[in-house]
Amino acid sequence: MTKKIAVLPGDGIGPEIVCEAVKVLQALQNSDGLSFELEYANIGGAGYDAEGDPLPDSTLKLAKAADAILLGAVGGPQYDKLDRPLRPERGLLRIRKELNLFANLRPAMLYPELAEASTLKPEVVAGLDIMIVRELTGDVYFGQPRGIEVRNGERVGFNTMLYSESEVRRVAHVAFQIAMKRDKKLCSVEKANVLECSELWKEVVIEVSKEYPEVALSHMYVDNAAMQLVRAPKQFDVVVTGNIFGDILSDAASMLTGSIGMLPSASLDQNNKGMYEPIHGSAPDIAGKNIANPLATILSVSMMLRYTFGNEAAAQRVDDAVRKVLQQGYRTSDIMSQGMRRVGCTEMGDAVVAALQ
Ligand code: NAD
Ligand code: IPM
Ligand code: MN
Repeated sequence: MTKKIAVLPGDGIGPEIVCEAVKVLQALQNSDGLSFELEYANIGGAGYDAEGDPLPDSTLKLAKAADAILLGAVGGPQYDKLDRPLRPERGLLRIRKELNLFANLRPAMLYPELAEASTLKPEVVAGLDIMIVRELTGDVYFGQPRGIEVRNGERVGFNTMLYSESEVRRVAHVAFQIAMKRDKKLCSVEKANVLECSELWKEVVIEVSKEYPEVALSHMYVDNAAMQLVRAPKQFDVVVTGNIFGDILSDAASMLTGSIGMLPSASLDQNNKGMYEPIHGSAPDIAGKNIANPLATILSVSMMLRYTFGNEAAAQRVDDAVRKVLQQGYRTSDIMSQGMRRVGCTEMGDAVVAALQ
């Protein structure tokens, strides 16, 4: 059956990396009998430039009708002074919210070939395989009230950290279910020593844990978790955390794998419909130079095949192809090390396609 994929390249390096991921989808289509129908739309700064809205109605409609969504990245310095609702990042937050993509899976896995690319000692990261489950549609990102206003003659900025128990419960279930399929170890990360919001988070996670007696649940404060991630990351298997803590911890975790250019993600709703994107941003500093690493986006395609299309074999083929190009020595600048073969974004995409054959 033909799967409809909405393709939203976005800004900065977004179009470059998405182009390589699409090549991979097309290669699978030709070789594996898979059938995709791709339709492109604007989001972020591209949405604002073309249609005056970082999430145009037509884009949202397309995304809702699609079986899955492939997204590059949004944002850029030229948009930072726009009215807040018009900024690229708001478009991204809106599409996540509108599609109810509350569970954001961010796997941090070290390919053995990249042990040298990590800034951490190889023995600290060797064999690393963590799954961060980040809640994606709540927390201080969406809580009301929020704003900047004048109080007592000076400006104050404020946001509201807020979680309802149902929001915590549903993402906790996702995390426990993932833990059941892995090492049955789940660490819930919060700041319950200071924040009421986290106190409730922890209580609800403990309630949900009663339904998963086989999973060993632990709790950690987010400051300690940040430290432990770089001290001894392999103590973690599955981590579940709120929106903002997950945002920060996953960028940190990405460096364990060699580069933020390696970390894919899946943002899923209740029915495993998903949006797939690298965890990194639009990297304006390297946009348009053909030097971005497309592997995080290509690995996001693999997650799409696995989680939304339930095609583990095809997902595995993409993962294996990525592994193979790394074995062959291909490296974009961000993961370059001595003796390897430095390539650009396009060449890396071509190498993955060749490795798929
Ligand atoms: P960033 O992730 O874009 O870049 C951080 C650093 O990592 C930069 O030095 C960049 O060159 C490098 N980098 C990122 N992806 C790379 C890749 N694939 N290959 C090689 N190097 C890569 O974060 P930032 O600089 O803080 O943000 C830039 C813009 O992106 C901002 O507008 C921000 O809001 C936006 N952003 C968007 C998303 C998203 O769309 N999901 C995520 C994060 C940031
Ligand atoms: C991410 C990004 C986004 C987030 C921004 C661009 C809204 O940093 O996807 O990690 O904070 O969720
Ligand atoms: Mn982020």
